[in-house]
Amino acid sequence: MSRATSKVDAAPPSTLFLFGAHGDLVKRLLMPALYNLSRDGLLDNGLHIVGVDHNEVSDADFAAKLEAFIIEQARAKGVDEPEKVLDPALWAKLRKRISYISGDFLDDATYQAIAERIEVNGTGNAMFYLATSPRFFSEVAQRLGSSGLLKEQPDAFRRVVIEKPFGHDLASAEALNACLLGVMSEKQIYRIDHYLGKETVQNILVSRFSNGIFEAFWNNHYIDHVQITAAETVGVETRGNFYDQTGALRDMVPNHLFQLLAMIAMEPPAAFGADAVRGEKAKVIGAIRPWSKADALKNSVRGQYTAGQGDKPGYREEPKVDPQSTTETYVALKVMVDNWRWVGVPFYLRTGKRMSVRDTEIAICFKPAPYAQFRDTEVDRLKSNYLKIQIQPDEGMWFDLQAKRPGPAMELENVKLGFAYKDFFQMQPSTGYETLIYDCLIGDQTLFQRADNIENGWRAVQPFLDAWREGGSIATYAAGEDGPEAADELLARDGHHWHRLG
Ligand code: BG6
Repeated sequence: MSRATSKVDAAPPSTLFLFGAHGDLVKRLLMPALYNLSRDGLLDNGLHIVGVDHNEVSDADFAAKLEAFIIEQARAKGVDEPEKVLDPALWAKLRKRISYISGDFLDDATYQAIAERIEVNGTGNAMFYLATSPRFFSEVAQRLGSSGLLKEQPDAFRRVVIEKPFGHDLASAEALNACLLGVMSEKQIYRIDHYLGKETVQNILVSRFSNGIFEAFWNNHYIDHVQITAAETVGVETRGNFYDQTGALRDMVPNHLFQLLAMIAMEPPAAFGADAVRGEKAKVIGAIRPWSKADALKNSVRGQYTAGQGDKPGYREEPKVDPQSTTETYVALKVMVDNWRWVGVPFYLRTGKRMSVRDTEIAICFKPAPYAQFRDTEVDRLKSNYLKIQIQPDEGMWFDLQAKRPGPAMELENVKLGFAYKDFFQMQPSTGYETLIYDCLIGDQTLFQRADNIENGWRAVQPFLDAWREGGSIATYAAGEDGPEAADELLARDGHHWHRLG
């Protein structure tokens, strides 16, 4: 099945094994998403959900726990009367198909129990979702392989879903891919980048490739530079342990920000299917210039937040963070895409925790009009036009244009031409995982990362990791500010400034 077909049918019956069933991912995203899919009639009555984890709980207790997760998430999102979020009849039907296997991920008996459960559930289709700590990815994949659970039949698929992080540098990503591909084929692997589940991210391709006007100016003749931002107001919350080993670059750039870059910069695919789309993405990510270490230092800024207004603690005071930590919570980079369409167009990327606002956006800055032919209007007063694609929280697209302010004087003013999702579409509450889980069940890999996407992403960030290990310094910014001053200088050097957030 491919994304070109419209999605109206329920996904085929199968057994979905959730490894790490008591973890945060199942609680915050997977279970609410599965419930939403079932509400929308997109899950077959033959879909069974099986939690796999080391805790000893009964099937009934596990189902009750999932029920509590869904209600808790609705409450966290500010839904009025969260306990009413579950339709009792619908939940009763789904609940009957939830069970649990208590077992160690490294114990062969766990895999024996999984094989038996597939047998009992009566469909040979199975999806193994590794919602575990990354240290288990290779181990679990190998055991699934050696116990024969990844062997597909013409009428029975076997698929493995893997969450990021896919490695922590190029070498570890290559090793993980080699391990996965040693026990299954690429067609069975679904590497999730949850940004691809966002409607606004998918809409970038639709906007570019279904509206003829964009292609005419989508190149280095008209586009001056591109800015990609993922600003968050949250700190590291309860993830200090993980984040302190990871940092902003690894956490956000080779995955989420490069996926946004690929959507903007890729060539039109020959077809709207998984191979063609992922092939174009791999090409464009592979065209990011690998900086020398010296250039990587020159073209990057690392920042860490210190205490800010309103009792916001500094990063080093956060729970489970080393008080001497030099891990970056903010990064700004300049990258160049060396191909015919984009040569000479800088792509500036920035992402950070504890910034002033939550804003994920792409700002495409066009070259200014060559000459201002208006009486008493200086050329240098003409501003560049921006196309802002906002991924979240206000989903939509806006063009910044110059317009004449009414009155006898020739005065120019910035105005906006825009499309906000909420003005046109009524969106059902969703986590962003609904599309991804559904696509996995129907066997559509378009929105999943292929091995070459992952490795090309790490190849492009590896020079920054290498350069930072050997030198350079980390700047600071107060929690609630938009990154360190050095990040402004990174753009000022090229005569640019960051697009205002919000
Ligand atoms: C995750 C990162 O992949 O993405 C988090 O590990 C980050 O650190 C999150 O907060 C951002 O996702 P979103 O959907 O809130 O932009």
